[in-house]
Amino acid sequence: QRVAIVFGGRSSEHMVSCATAAGVLEAIDRERFEVLPIGIARDGRWLLMADDPKPLQLTASQQPEVDGDTAVVVPADPAGRDVLVLEPGQPPRELGAVDVVLPLLHGPFGEDGTLQGLLELADIRYVGSGVSASAVMMDKHLMKVVFAAAGLPVGPYVVITDKEWRRDKALALDAVSSLGWPVFVKPARAGSSQGVMKVEHHQQLESAIEAAREHDPKVIVEAAVVGREIECGVLEGHGSDRPRASEIGEIEVIGGHDFYDFEAKYIDEGNVRLSCPASIAPEVAAEVKELSVKAFEAAGCEGLARVDWFYEPGGRLVLNEINTLPGFTPQSMFPQVWAQSGLDYTALITELIELATE
Ligand code: DAL
Ligand code: MG
Repeated sequence: QRVAIVFGGRSSEHMVSCATAAGVLEAIDRERFEVLPIGIARDGRWLLMADDPKPLQLTASQQPEVDGDTAVVVPADPAGRDVLVLEPGQPPRELGAVDVVLPLLHGPFGEDGTLQGLLELADIRYVGSGVSASAVMMDKHLMKVVFAAAGLPVGPYVVITDKEWRRDKALALDAVSSLGWPVFVKPARAGSSQGVMKVEHHQQLESAIEAAREHDPKVIVEAAVVGREIECGVLEGHGSDRPRASEIGEIEVIGGHDFYDFEAKYIDEGNVRLSCPASIAPEVAAEVKELSVKAFEAAGCEGLARVDWFYEPGGRLVLNEINTLPGFTPQSMFPQVWAQSGLDYTALITELIELATE
């Protein structure tokens, strides 16, 4: 099968997406799949890339980029294969023959239903959730509305739309006070903690909202939940089977970071401990799995998702969020929880492609 791996993209998680692609290029079963690596530059150009994971790895000393000026890009296929050419402002010229697209994009313009819409339009199969689940689960506000309607436990929050902020900042700031302190200020539609700040006092709130607005004019402010951070991977079931939940993973920020921020996630990994299975009581693990499957179904997800929870000291579970295209390097939580559940990284990639093509 011919698989187009699409990565990079126009969101602030561009580098994370490159890192994910590096992992997949290295591990995908080459006997089963012919790989077509397609990078999307930050300006929206689609470029055929070298089939080489190394320049795409994210480390403290390398920030990978899909860019026509960098060496990682193959501007034209040597065999003259004009596979996929899409330039800003131009209609797509040719989508070529691929059996399936594996979108390894995180954040807006990739995880949010836009790419999924393009692929639907072009009648091309792809891995993961469809247009509406991708779009709604990209938006931390709409996501909570769906979860609350399904009876899933979400924490208190306040939304500040662009118009509300521009109309009356004082009113918007005042609404946040009802949450208590600290709060987390987040762009509604972003990921990897980009633009996220933990705010301890009212005085820091305005600048944190402005910083979040750099990523998305719609901002969500959430009451901080004190509890352990645990995560569960979910895979769609085959045929009419129910979704499957993985073993539970746990994230502990050991030092140097206020919370599990971008640096802790990707640069300063020494200060973070990912463990699986998490040392929680079996009945709690069973409840997390059950509720994660429920969240996946309530959201209308397909393929895969990682469901992130807080486990409060009193025993209550609070649903933080769902990620329809979770971080997917071999070190990321999603592949790790599935490895613990008996599906190694290469097998997991194969499984995702099979789910999309069956
Ligand atoms: N948004 C990042 C990639 C994650 O959820 O893992
Ligand atoms: Mg997220």
